[in-house]
Amino acid sequence: MDEVRDAPCRVHILVCANGRPPGGMPSCGEVGEAVFARLKGHALRTGVAHEVWVTRTGCLGLCHAAGAALAIHRPGGEGRSVFLQAVQVDEVEEVLRRYAGRAG
Ligand code: FES
Repeated sequence: MDEVRDAPCRVHILVCANGRPPGGMPSCGEVGEAVFARLKGHALRTGVAHEVWVTRTGCLGLCHAAGAALAIHRPGGEGRSVFLQAVQVDEVEEVLRRYAGRAG
């Protein structure tokens, strides 16, 4: 394996978009898809997508019926990793402002 030491990623936001059938355990599902799309769209529109990576994932183990789970990592050592749950689409700008240093 090769360790990549100079990746341009400053912040990596993992967004759970895992869905489950109705009536079972809660999941991020459609809200997760919407949060992912909005985060990715903002990163692209504001020209920071090269350093703020947004990735759709499966279950992060933080399942909540009311919104999406996010894992925010800063590979460059700018701070600790953060986990969020129950994130709503209208909170995307705040997530970027607080954890990626970018206003939406
Ligand atoms: S389904 Fe999203 S964290 Fe488990």
